[in-house]
Amino acid sequence: RGPDTYGPTGQPTGAGQGRMAQDGAYLTTAQGARLYDTDHSLKAGPRGPALLQDHHLREKITHFDHERIPERVVHARGAAAHGVFRSYGVAAGVTKAAFLTEGVETPVFVRFSTVLGSRGSADSVRDTRGFATKFYTDEGVFDLVGNNIPVFFIQDAIKFPDVIHAGKPHPDREIPQAQSAHDTFWDFVTLHTEATHHTLWNMSDRGIPRSYRMMEGFGVHTFRLVNGEGATTLVKFHWKPKLGVHSLVWEEAQIAAGVDPDFHRRDLADAIEAGAFPQWELGVQTFPDTEDQMFEGIDLLDPTKIVPEELAPVRPIGLMTLNANPSNFFAETEQVAFHVGHLVPGIDVTNDPLLQGRLFSYLDTQISRLGGPNFGQLPINRTHAPVNDMLRDGMHQTAVHRGVAPYRPNSLDGGCPFLAGADTGAYIEVPVEVPAARKVRDAAASFDDHFSQARLFWLSMSPTEREHIVDAYTFELGKCWETAVKERGLKVLANIDPSLCTQVAAGLGLPAPAATVPLAAVEPSPALSQLGEDWPVD
Ligand code: HEM
Repeated sequence: RGPDTYGPTGQPTGAGQGRMAQDGAYLTTAQGARLYDTDHSLKAGPRGPALLQDHHLREKITHFDHERIPERVVHARGAAAHGVFRSYGVAAGVTKAAFLTEGVETPVFVRFSTVLGSRGSADSVRDTRGFATKFYTDEGVFDLVGNNIPVFFIQDAIKFPDVIHAGKPHPDREIPQAQSAHDTFWDFVTLHTEATHHTLWNMSDRGIPRSYRMMEGFGVHTFRLVNGEGATTLVKFHWKPKLGVHSLVWEEAQIAAGVDPDFHRRDLADAIEAGAFPQWELGVQTFPDTEDQMFEGIDLLDPTKIVPEELAPVRPIGLMTLNANPSNFFAETEQVAFHVGHLVPGIDVTNDPLLQGRLFSYLDTQISRLGGPNFGQLPINRTHAPVNDMLRDGMHQTAVHRGVAPYRPNSLDGGCPFLAGADTGAYIEVPVEVPAARKVRDAAASFDDHFSQARLFWLSMSPTEREHIVDAYTFELGKCWETAVKERGLKVLANIDPSLCTQVAAGLGLPAPAATVPLAAVEPSPALSQLGEDWPVD
């Protein structure tokens, strides 16, 4: 039994808090019967055999046998903290979300994670990091389920099982790709060239952060904000760490993985315990909600693309401070359930096909991971807003619902609870026009460009950062057994930049192929190329 929920500094609150501790004077069974011995089973004589009638023995062992729940299918390895988000009020013009009005403080719970490793894997491996934030707002829970890399591998959620299968350990040996055969991961990302941009970020220093406290976070997708007048704005969410962005170098990451596999977990917990509370500013890039949802030639619905901050600056809208460690890893870090569909009035989704698939996936997987449909009642997942839903019964139900069966209108139950109108804070989906269209599986032509932003990223790197990227590709592709996969990897690199390709090819002892995409097609779009003079292109 736990608390009802958690307060702004992680302290348990609500009616259940007194039941947190196992604090009776006597050790008891789960039913409260006092025990006189918990070290010896009941036996037919001191040398046995054990008796089936020993309830305490069976209860103790049976409960232990079921202590584990499935780890997350992705992002299994994580660390989390409680905190508070304070709004600057800057976004109040573009969203009616109450927690974004000036000065409002909202409790948050943040879970950082790696994507591919299992629950017991090392923290400092080269991977994308999850950055998931639960805002317990007065209008319901808002989850911003992001990563530390602003783009994703795929443009359509239907490929998610495939990219994860390709990246997870091989089925025969269960040896993680990070240490052994890399062929399936590199096979996938070189056959699905939309993965090029994300992969390049992974091979850069961003793939091996120094600390969770020193990572940016990105909502990745474009979201739609709506204000009190119904006006809409498209946005991308950014977390900017007050400590700046810092990375390990590869040798440090390797050593940390061996010497201290809990490197990031320890760093976060130690910092918070010492009172060095990590802080991030939440910021938004805003774009007009045009009919085509494009901005300066960039398709805002394509999650493999960023919008450069030079074109759309990130405006800070609030400050998050993480100020308390979880008191129980299982109850909080393990049982927390984030969902991109947990939205509050003023924030809505777009048609990004990756986001659309995520809207299905999270609830579905959590029903399996957390044993049924009632995990929203777990203290860490419980909203701080009043709940009056029509959901009943099911596995692990802890509420005692009263009255007749929930349906409405209902003339037998003393009058139904109200349905809220827009003026009383209801969540109302933005009535976006869906143009008449044929049912197709095709992707938009604007999703076809897989290389120009990867090139943009490469060109924006300093010489040292480029050196690290060359080393990372050489090391990782060098671990592939299949020469054909390495060769295809080099072809992808040639389409990013010939010098990147040549250097990696030399490291692999293979010939450097020519680009397969005409060079003009990989130049930044006209709007982006205006930035060219500022970039350190050497
Ligand atoms: C978990 C981010 C794409 C399915 C997570 C978590 C994060 C995350 C941060 C960990 C949540 C936690 O700490 O508990 C992202 C981002 C994506 C993305 C930023 C793309 C922009 C997808 C897609 C799917 C998916 C396309 C499926 C279609 C899942 C699942 C989990 C998960 C099943 C495990 C959830 C759980 O067991 O609680 N994701 N993800 N993700 N994600 Fe994603």
